[in-house]
Amino acid sequence: MIVVPGPASQELGRKIADLLKIKIVPVEFKRFPDGESYIRFNGDVENEDIIVVQTTSPPQNENLIQLFLMANNAKDLKARSITTVIPYFAYTRQDKRFRHGEAFSVKTMVTLLEACGVTRIITVNAHNPKILEAFKVRIKDLSAIGLLAEHFKKQGFDRAFSLSLGKKAQGVAAEANEVLNGGYGYVETRRDRLTGKVNVKKKALPVANRDVIIFDDIISSGGTMIKAIKLVREQGAQRIYAACVHSLLIKDAKDKITESGADGIVSTDCVPSSVSLVSVAPLIAKALTEEEPK
Ligand code: R5P
Repeated sequence: MIVVPGPASQELGRKIADLLKIKIVPVEFKRFPDGESYIRFNGDVENEDIIVVQTTSPPQNENLIQLFLMANNAKDLKARSITTVIPYFAYTRQDKRFRHGEAFSVKTMVTLLEACGVTRIITVNAHNPKILEAFKVRIKDLSAIGLLAEHFKKQGFDRAFSLSLGKKAQGVAAEANEVLNGGYGYVETRRDRLTGKVNVKKKALPVANRDVIIFDDIISSGGTMIKAIKLVREQGAQRIYAACVHSLLIKDAKDKITESGADGIVSTDCVPSSVSLVSVAPLIAKALTEEEPK
């Protein structure tokens, strides 16, 4: 196996290669004056099992184009197999036609990756893992919730209450609770399809005088997390932490979350940011060794 750390995941790609003790092929990349991307592999990939690591957080369209260029380049240069590790997989929230006439974006992304020669996709806490099972290409969805919970445990948050957002994400808090052991629950969320605004349903939670960790897969504008923070704060929670796998933190989301009463924000390095305190490199390295790349 050879790792190709993409422009958007240079550090994570190198960490994965170090853990697996395998070679990397560095990528030369630049943006032309008109905004187009240039990619060149600085090494051979012929007959090799190639692992392209590239997250697709904003600027997601550029990062996706680079990913397509790298995958298809590996195919043209006769790689034996092409695994793309996409720690944050953009467009997976549009996992169906919510309204008549809308594009089914996740399907388009997977179709393009397949057309580029990708033989396997590995991602982390995809928004809707179920939908990924419907595609022909092999897609593995890993969970980083245990790693996040371990981080909090090491920081002295053993027995904190784990809260997840959205009915479908109930399992997230349960997973965290396996490490933290302080009980868990969820609150229902509903997004208005037209305005994009999220409503967090009021609910009584056993959080008075307790430390609470609120888990979500993604923090984007921070709106959902802020509403959940307010809910547990009103119910007398002690220390409140926002934990997510993918910290997109658009514009001033980080400041707004802190101002809403969070004692801190912790995420993984699926999307590198100032709050990426937990690395998913060991999780991905393990997954890469667990099954045949081809
Ligand atoms: C929603 O379906 C996701 O799980 C997150 O809750 C959502 O993406 C967060 O978005 P925002 O930070 O903009 O509220």
